Amino acid sequence: MQQFNEILQKKCSFTFITGDALEVLQAMPSNIINCVITSPPYWRLREYDNNDNPKEIGNEPDYTQYVEKLTNIFNEIKRVIADDGSLWLNLGDKYHNKELMGMPWRVALSLIDSGWILRNDIIWDQMKGTQSSKDRLRDVYEHIFHFVKRKKYYYDHNEIRIRPIRKPKIYNGEFVSATGVSGKKYKQQIENSAVLSAEEKINARNALNEAITEMENGTIVDFRMTIRGEQRTYHSDNQNVSGRAKELATKGYFLLKMGANGHIPTDIWRIAPEDTWRKDAHYAVFPEELLLNPIRATCPIDGIVLDPFSGTGSTVYTAVKLNRRGIGIDLSTSYNDIAQNRIKEICKNLF
Ligand SMILES: C[S@@+](CC[C@H](N)C(=O)[O-])C[C@H]1O[C@@H](n2cnc3c(N)ncnc32)[C@H](O)[C@@H]1O
Repeated sequence: MQQFNEILQKKCSFTFITGDALEVLQAMPSNIINCVITSPPYWRLREYDNNDNPKEIGNEPDYTQYVEKLTNIFNEIKRVIADDGSLWLNLGDKYHNKELMGMPWRVALSLIDSGWILRNDIIWDQMKGTQSSKDRLRDVYEHIFHFVKRKKYYYDHNEIRIRPIRKPKIYNGEFVSATGVSGKKYKQQIENSAVLSAEEKINARNALNEAITEMENGTIVDFRMTIRGEQRTYHSDNQNVSGRAKELATKGYFLLKMGANGHIPTDIWRIAPEDTWRKDAHYAVFPEELLLNPIRATCPIDGIVLDPFSGTGSTVYTAVKLNRRGIGIDLSTSYNDIAQNRIKEICKNLF
């Protein structure tokens, strides 16, 4: 309890607690955590440095016991996180008796059934996979589920937007986007259209001029125009299926604008697994890059990030680097020692 109080009173910015995740969580005050990012042991995949401790998760003979144990832990996490908090849960799958178990989804569905709201299923493309079987494809991805407690939650999308690298430039006296769009071709298509009415032509021309002005004054960096009879809609021509098709039918055009603030990352993350840092000490270390977006988007500066299966302390380490506070829990004293030294050694300048 002392450790939680020190963190809450901002006397320190991180702490590692040795113990069973469920028991430690049960001793924690409610509503104090902003976001949880964690990767529990996968079912019957590895043994960690816990000297056959019966509390170690992942060794259950039956997968239903594994799902139940994790569900109990994440229900406790629901109590300790703030109402606007988030849970990012990384899980990998497992073949058992030649069958892919669907373990990540078994756990995710159990959490949904117990009241968590699933906002994203992120595919972590690890780019290189093990080739152990000759009658199926290589596995290269794991899941990262983003869950929230309430429908309204803290999410700072500006912190994670991918800013455009290439900006529009002046070419032959006119503004051209990085992908070569000036609006000239669209102007001609509108003028020459035999499909648009006179009124639709005026409206389309005005909208196009507005987009060009926005590109000139830097509000947007690029745009695409779809004009009835010239370009097809992206998804479907069926108005019942596509809002764009409806817009095209009623207005004669639609515009897609790429804002200067950049775009929100997609739900496929291509990040190589960590294989350089202390592979000798732990098998499953989080790459730092994987932690950046969850922390930036769902934990405010000075907020608290928790990892209840913290291993070598990657989550806490990255949280502290990003000016957040961090709590790590692990059953293993030796992993906690590694985590403690790692954070002190690498973040020397922070203390
Ligand atoms: C997949 S590893 C986490 C690695 C971590 N993400 C990192 O970057 O180093 C899972 C960790 O859960 C710990 N663990 C297993 N059962 C536990 C339990 N009941 N309570 C707390 N930690 C446990 C293991 O010791 C192991 O370090």
